[in-house]
Amino acid sequence: MILLRFFFLLLLLAGAPPALSLTQEGLYLHSVKLSLTDPDSSLAAWDDRDDSPCAWPGVGCDPASGSVTSLDLPSANLAGPFPLLLCRLSNLTFLSLYNNSITSLPSGVSACHSLVHLDLAQNLLTGDLPASLADLPNLAYLDLTGNNFSGDIPASFGRFQRLEVLSLVYNLLDGTVPAFLGNISTLKMLNLSYNPFAPGRIPPELGNLTNLEVLWLTECSLTGKIPESLGRLKRLTDLDLAINYLEGPIPSSLTELESVFQIELYNNSLTGELPPGLSKLTALRLLDASMNRLTGTIPDELTRLPLESLNLYENQLSGELPASIADSPNLYELRLFKNKLTGELPKNFGQNAPLRYVDVSTNNFSGEIPASLCAKGELEELLMIENSFSGPIPEPLGGCRSLTRVRLGNNGLSGDVPSSFWGLPRVYLLELADNKFSGPIGEEIASASGLSVLSLSRNEFTGSLPKGIGTLASLLDFSASENKLTGSLPESIASLGQLGRLDLHRNELSGELPSGIQQWKKLNELNLASNQLSGSIPGEIGSLSVLNYLDLSGNWFSGKVPVELQNLKLNQLNLSYNRLSGTLPPMFTKQMYQNSFLGNPGLCGGGMQGLCNGGGEERNSGYLWLLRSIFVLAGLVFIVGVGWFYMKYKKFKSAKRAIDKSKWTLMSFHKLGFSEDEILDSLDEDNVIGAGSSGKVYKVVLTNGEAVAVKKLWDGPRKESENHDVEKGPVQDDGFDAEVRTLGKIRHKNIVKLWCSCTTRDCKLLVYEYMPNGSLGDLLHSSKGGLLEWPTRYRIAMDAAEGLSYLHHDCVPPIVHRDVKSNNILLDADFGARVADFGVAKVVERTGKGHESMSMIAGSCGYIAPEYAYTLRVNEKSDTYSFGVVLLELVTGRRPVDPEFGEKDLVKWVCITLDQKGVDQVIDRKLDSCFKEDICRVLNIGLQCTSPLPINRPSMRRVVKLLQEISAENAPKKANRDGKLTPYYYDDASDPGSVA
Ligand SMILES: *[C@@H]1O[C@H](CO)[C@@H](O)[C@H](O)[C@H]1NC(C)=O
Ligand SMILES: *[C@@H]1O[C@H](CO)[C@@H](O)[C@H](O)[C@H]1NC(C)=O
Repeated sequence: MILLRFFFLLLLLAGAPPALSLTQEGLYLHSVKLSLTDPDSSLAAWDDRDDSPCAWPGVGCDPASGSVTSLDLPSANLAGPFPLLLCRLSNLTFLSLYNNSITSLPSGVSACHSLVHLDLAQNLLTGDLPASLADLPNLAYLDLTGNNFSGDIPASFGRFQRLEVLSLVYNLLDGTVPAFLGNISTLKMLNLSYNPFAPGRIPPELGNLTNLEVLWLTECSLTGKIPESLGRLKRLTDLDLAINYLEGPIPSSLTELESVFQIELYNNSLTGELPPGLSKLTALRLLDASMNRLTGTIPDELTRLPLESLNLYENQLSGELPASIADSPNLYELRLFKNKLTGELPKNFGQNAPLRYVDVSTNNFSGEIPASLCAKGELEELLMIENSFSGPIPEPLGGCRSLTRVRLGNNGLSGDVPSSFWGLPRVYLLELADNKFSGPIGEEIASASGLSVLSLSRNEFTGSLPKGIGTLASLLDFSASENKLTGSLPESIASLGQLGRLDLHRNELSGELPSGIQQWKKLNELNLASNQLSGSIPGEIGSLSVLNYLDLSGNWFSGKVPVELQNLKLNQLNLSYNRLSGTLPPMFTKQMYQNSFLGNPGLCGGGMQGLCNGGGEERNSGYLWLLRSIFVLAGLVFIVGVGWFYMKYKKFKSAKRAIDKSKWTLMSFHKLGFSEDEILDSLDEDNVIGAGSSGKVYKVVLTNGEAVAVKKLWDGPRKESENHDVEKGPVQDDGFDAEVRTLGKIRHKNIVKLWCSCTTRDCKLLVYEYMPNGSLGDLLHSSKGGLLEWPTRYRIAMDAAEGLSYLHHDCVPPIVHRDVKSNNILLDADFGARVADFGVAKVVERTGKGHESMSMIAGSCGYIAPEYAYTLRVNEKSDTYSFGVVLLELVTGRRPVDPEFGEKDLVKWVCITLDQKGVDQVIDRKLDSCFKEDICRVLNIGLQCTSPLPINRPSMRRVVKLLQEISAENAPKKANRDGKLTPYYYDDASDPGSVA
């Protein structure tokens, strides 16, 4: 008795009233609460002083018995292992812990034997799928999407008794798609998409799943043919086999899928023609078989279906578009670009169909643009570039106010553009370049308030630029070069504050530059060459801080070269052939500007060739220059010819390539432990470890056991580029040796050491330290990519950033690499990274061979900064961009360009995927999710580096800082499910270069 009283006293003191009345099920649930981490207090209302748990949030009870039947706690931020105690709730049928942080699913889950619905999607589950799940006798719904399950699908899964929905999307399952899934005869939905399965066929047994309504096998590494048996799935409404390696023809049995609504077969290697009998698919609304190798024509019967969306782009389809497509009452999307289609579009196309997206670009279509395309008033995208369309833009399209994206470039279109067409209010991209359009640019353009890209180059437009153009506040890119435009630039054009590019070269524009151009804060390129512009060049140009390319050549500009120009970091400056006078500002008296001021007879510069030097010895410098050029050119042709003949002769004479060592000169930059003879003796084709655009690379093992890498630069006429590399600068540059000497002096732990160079008159060797783990690109994008875990990738990023920062900020003069890419980042035995191959591309720039070599394109597809692609000019920020692409590669594990991205490159793919699907779809699935927070931060840096405007990109020094900040806080990380990313603005119109 005394003891009991003491006990009560104790409880009172503790302030916790006794939990005597709560039901047993309530007590179980309360223990479940205690077993979970609940940072948001989502379960705060689960109070053990209540009598029953039935009113607790997320808990559902049977009204009659008061027994718990359902538990629904989505997105509650609960963490911890799956609470097996839940299985004590003997009537629990519905359990959803969707989007929490549940870390493990023990096999004991099979004790929850009443479960009908189990949703554990978007958690942190790892390891093998529990085989015991199949022992749940009533389970009908199993959703484990978005976890990190790995290994095989257990064989027991073939024994589910009542399962209707099985979704294992976005896991790390790496076995194959098993045949035994064909035994789950109750299945209505099977969704295994986006797993890194081992390559394997679609099991024909899946054709036994006669109740199946949805079969989603996107990106499952499927190979071989599509099995005929799938035609037995009479109830199938959705068939998605996209992004696999399927080959062979589309089986004709698929025409038996009488319920099918949607078929997705894009991005495979399917061949042959679209099967006959498609008209039997009377329910088919969406068909996407794009990005395959389909041939033949588009069958007439296909267009008799109630199709809404037809995507057959990037195939090899030929013949004409069936005229009956014009009768499709529901068709809103038609994408046929990149095929070999011919003939005309049906005259009444759009009369019946509510067309919204029409893309027939890059085919051989001809004839006129159908006038009725926008008859239903819904047309948003009209993309017809690279065809042979002719005739005018039909008048009715001028009333198509829904249009947003119009690309008619590269056709034979002609006539005046309808005046109302200029002023369509929602159009942001209007491309009419490379046609034969004539007449004026309509004053109505002032109404096109959303316009950001206006591309009119290479037509026959006349008249003056409309005054209203200055009201287009979103205009980013305006090009109308090579037309017959006259008159002066309207004053209003100066107020285009977003303008990044203005290209009006080769017109007949006259008058002075408008005042107030300091408002062109974002202008990157200004090209007004070959007009009749006059007056002085305003000093305000010097305040355009991001101006990169300035060409005012071939005009009538007079007065002085404004000293303010020296404030700019220009990659291209051309003021030649004007009437400028006075003295050149001192900065421009350098060699690299020697062609920038030619043909200005009144201009004097300190010793600059072609300009007056006070003495006036070269009054006719223009003609002299021309003459000299012709001689030099003739000389070059002769030398190249003789060289070529000599090479041929040599090859013919001796098949054996004996190297005459006496002719080699060796230049070494480090204390060498080897002699050049040793190297020359080992240049065997058997030792080739790589070949790039500039030469072959050999591995040479020296007698002392050490290895070196020897790069033999191509001699003779340069080879066509490989690996999509754009051609680099010439290697037979006179300044080569001097440059090699500079580079040889560089000592930095993150830059590959150049031991020495050996030169003869027609061949050059560079001897580097050997990097046993090869290039980052090769490793990351091979099957061994999984070896690179996040900490290694992070360190590689750090190392490479430090190397580049050294080149940019610690070398005098700074060195711009110009070809930063994952293939130029090499890995030593410990996966330490070093930047390589910075020599050759750079040589050109600083030896000052003048403009031609300076404007040589360097860089590789997918890495080239946007400003570089159109200005051919680089500075450090272009390297930053390329480095950003490397960061994105490290984060995503994807290549910078990939057919899967379609017209996009990695940068755009990341932006769009982030936007539309979230960060989880961007991050390489091979990476451990416990590093997610760090990965997101590196991703963020990658996005900053790849910002379209150079000024928004951080310097490499800053990049190093940003990366270091991550490691500073790099205590063991708890996974952060929603790694926050700063929103990133993306507008595809900023890239007029993309196809269609
Ligand atoms: C489960 O439901 C049945 C039928 O409603 C009921 O008899 C039984 O008591 C319930 N079980 C529990 C533990 O409440
Ligand atoms: C399932 O499909 C396979 C191959 O399509 C077939 O051989 C097998 O007999 C089928 N099994 C049943 C039970 O229908």
